[in-house]
Amino acid sequence: MAEDTTHKDDIELLRGVRRGLAARPKTLEPKWFYDETGSALFEEITQLSEYYPTRTELAILSQAADALARYLPAGGALVELGSGASRKTRTLIEAAPHLAAYLPIDISEQFLHSVARDLRKRYPALEIAPVVADFTRPLSLPAPFHTMPKAAFFPGSTIGNFLPAEAMVLLRQVRDWQTVEHFIIGIDLVKDTETLIAAYDDAQGITAAFNRNILRRINRELAADFDLSGFDHEARWNSAQSRIEMHLVSQRDQTVTIAGDQYAFQAGESIHTENSHKYTEKGFTSLAAQAGWEVTDFITDPHDFFAVAILTPAD
Ligand code: AVJ
Repeated sequence: MAEDTTHKDDIELLRGVRRGLAARPKTLEPKWFYDETGSALFEEITQLSEYYPTRTELAILSQAADALARYLPAGGALVELGSGASRKTRTLIEAAPHLAAYLPIDISEQFLHSVARDLRKRYPALEIAPVVADFTRPLSLPAPFHTMPKAAFFPGSTIGNFLPAEAMVLLRQVRDWQTVEHFIIGIDLVKDTETLIAAYDDAQGITAAFNRNILRRINRELAADFDLSGFDHEARWNSAQSRIEMHLVSQRDQTVTIAGDQYAFQAGESIHTENSHKYTEKGFTSLAAQAGWEVTDFITDPHDFFAVAILTPAD
């Protein structure tokens, strides 16, 4: 994900910020993390020793590539939700020369098209059909692909950003695509709290910078005056909801002006910026079942830190 800052995006951001800061507790949606700086910081996060998900998922994908390739339909399409740089997808594409098309879906138009150009050079026999869309909203694929057999791909445990009920809606939406044969999805698993917290509160403070960057972005794009040092980064394990929460906690009573409006923050008051839900195999299987999917394979790493789940329509 990278930014193309347009007027339209600023209006969306302003709307989101107004809604989120009017809520109690105050919230800002994690999708706003990913401007150019935020995307670069997230890249850095994925390289941190504490942040196990990216490298663990990549290891699973490369070790199980041949097995996974069998779930990708010959002459069919691979459709990826929130494709970003499509880095993880290459492993699948390279293991599945029988695929006819790859449809990366991403919200960031410029970035998506530059990635698509690069993929066309790299894989000249594969049709690359990028779709600019926010996959959290109902979305329809381009007509030529409606009846083509397809597999969906949603790596990165991004599904963890959604509340379970929202995740169910997303799973259901993909289930309702015509001729969808499988859904390959990356799931972060419940594990010891220390490992989880460290992954979201690293020693170098990269995750803290990533979290605070949402305030920097609002300052820049909405002419706001957040004092970044007035908010502390916090990662909390919410065991009742089985999720890591990221918060920005106001260090003092302070008032911030955003697009001409004033917002008051009390000392100790938090802005909840992200949920990252962690699943058990059982919990995820039951969520998937409610959306009409059967978990036909659940591939994990040796530590059971992360899983790549294969879903197949239940009949
Ligand atoms: C991109 C949503 C999978 O929840 O682990 C990383 C984002 N936030 N560190 C995650 C994130 C803080 C990440 N996802």
